[in-house]
Amino acid sequence: MTEQVIYPVQPGQKTKLNNAQYQAMYAESLRDPEGFWQQQAQRIEWKKPFSKVKDVSFAKEDLHIRWFEDGELNVTESCLDRHLDKHGDDVAIIWEPDDESQVARRITYRELSKEVNQLANGLRDLGVKKGDVVTIYMPMVPEASMAMLACARIGAIHSVVFGGFSPEALAGRIEDGNCHYVITANEGVRAGKIVPLKENVDAAINLCKSDQVKKVVVLNHTGNACTMEVGRDEDYRQLVDKQDSECQAEVMNAEDPLFILYTSGSTGKPKGVLHTCGGYLVYASMTHEYIFDYERGDVYWCAADVGWITGHSYIVYGPFANGATVVMYEGVPTHPDCGRVARIVDKHQINILYIAPTAIRALMSDGDEPVEGASLESLRLLGTVGEPINPEAWRWYYRTFGRSQCPIVDTWWQTETGAALITPLPGATDLKPGSATRPFFGIEPALVDEKGNELSGATSGNLIIKDSWPGQMRTVFGDHQRFIDTYFSTFEGTYFTGDGAKRDEDGYFWITGRVDDVLNVSGHRMGTAEIESALVAHEAVSEAAVVGFPHDVKGQGIYVYVTLNHDVQASPAIRNDLINWVRKEIGPIASPDIIQWAPGLPKTRSGKIMRRILRKIATDEYDQLGDISTLADPSVVESLIQEHQALT
Ligand code: WT7
Repeated sequence: MTEQVIYPVQPGQKTKLNNAQYQAMYAESLRDPEGFWQQQAQRIEWKKPFSKVKDVSFAKEDLHIRWFEDGELNVTESCLDRHLDKHGDDVAIIWEPDDESQVARRITYRELSKEVNQLANGLRDLGVKKGDVVTIYMPMVPEASMAMLACARIGAIHSVVFGGFSPEALAGRIEDGNCHYVITANEGVRAGKIVPLKENVDAAINLCKSDQVKKVVVLNHTGNACTMEVGRDEDYRQLVDKQDSECQAEVMNAEDPLFILYTSGSTGKPKGVLHTCGGYLVYASMTHEYIFDYERGDVYWCAADVGWITGHSYIVYGPFANGATVVMYEGVPTHPDCGRVARIVDKHQINILYIAPTAIRALMSDGDEPVEGASLESLRLLGTVGEPINPEAWRWYYRTFGRSQCPIVDTWWQTETGAALITPLPGATDLKPGSATRPFFGIEPALVDEKGNELSGATSGNLIIKDSWPGQMRTVFGDHQRFIDTYFSTFEGTYFTGDGAKRDEDGYFWITGRVDDVLNVSGHRMGTAEIESALVAHEAVSEAAVVGFPHDVKGQGIYVYVTLNHDVQASPAIRNDLINWVRKEIGPIASPDIIQWAPGLPKTRSGKIMRRILRKIATDEYDQLGDISTLADPSVVESLIQEHQALT
């Protein structure tokens, strides 16, 4: 993390802003936030202009966050309608199928708008109304983006659930959102394998209350048949094709909900992060334009899944608000081989490539093979997101995909922040591999110690944000107190990110990772408590404790300590059983990498598991266990160490 080599802005690089302009605009954004955002908010279409820019208090007794609160809009008018006159024939989505031999689809803004309007009318026909929650459980196909926009068109709140989640996880999200409508596909395809989405939806519905889900819209994506329940399930194509191609956009208040998106926290149950219409769109589109230096006509590929916030902000809302051409890829970066990403770049002449460090590390394990034979000359800018990037991976990405010419924007943000907060701007920011560099406009990050005292200069601490920005989440769906407790109670009067960070002499930020019990596995966020509660729900398990450990490709791996019930004998079979159990309860992304049997866990006398000790054992740092004398039974530590050494 102390890598200090600087990659200065290359001379002659033509971008929207240079360093001096960034500095001036950043200073202005903090000096006069109201004036700054008043002006920036004009980048989107308002049906009724707002008269008030900002009304925010981070004080936990009086927490409220409102932006542009009396303005009215419908986000789809900025993302679709306004492009039609002059840019209706511009390509909005280039869809690249999992199977390389299939033809790619190209969808213009006019076509996208038509289908979104039709689907929106179809949803209205099914009874969906403003304020209803619609769950979207889709593969990476254009219809996933269309479904999101169709919801937005009629003021329904979408709740996209990543297609890799299990029926159990899906059911939990449907119930938490009190959702009556689901949009899905018969099947998805990833790396040549079929994902039985509709089957999962049926299983999820069976786990829900009997009258929970009223309608399911099913896209037949693969051509294979699936079971359809008469009266409940509707064929997507039949529903859409009979609709009028114009749908009156619902008039939304700036602070009406746009979507919820579930994310893991440090306690068991995932939180429904709620974002609203006005501020979110202003912030998503502005960051997309400046961070990717987006110019009309650029072909831009964000290789995330729409099931994550990265997909929401940088595959759908940000780029569509900017009239961008977005590449959407159905499959995985290493399918059918490590050269696929580079081939996609050449095939669609991509100018901007935004992928996760975990994908970069997976490719890098094949040396330079992933780019051999590729031209990559269309690329002008690279980006990363989701986890800290190790300098070695950064340099590999820069040298291979970037041909040592393209800046890399390492964008730090969270589901909660809506869009990027700490990030380089190409042409303005000198780069340091591994550093997310400097704050975006209007963002005031700070580092505090355990007591909340703000630290100055080059130092490290807990990362907080001192004031609001338009794209900030507004509440936890259905649980406002949890919102206050999670983000505004640790360090009073500020937003606590849950991350630790270092700031260097140049004021650059280096995110060091979560300081709470949240893991980052391949850029996916996993609460240790969530995995633990899945494990203890298994009949053989008495207790479980989960910690992270460094993993070459995934960034962090999942290390599990399990205490079995007295009558259960440890065996490879039960180990496999537990792995499959977690996959079933949550999804494959939560698969434990290592399971260690633990006859006892290190607990304080009051019964609290000391994860700090378990973390040190998992990472072989036995000399840094700290004080273990407060444990109820200090001797468990020695036996855990022995078992760990035998295992690894
Ligand atoms: C957590 C948020 C950002 C959208 C995708 C993940 C980590 C994210 C970076 C980065 C270092 C990063 C943080 C953060 N993270 N981006 N560029 N460098 N760490 O969103 O699932 O809500 O996860 O991801 O730990 O808190 P998320």
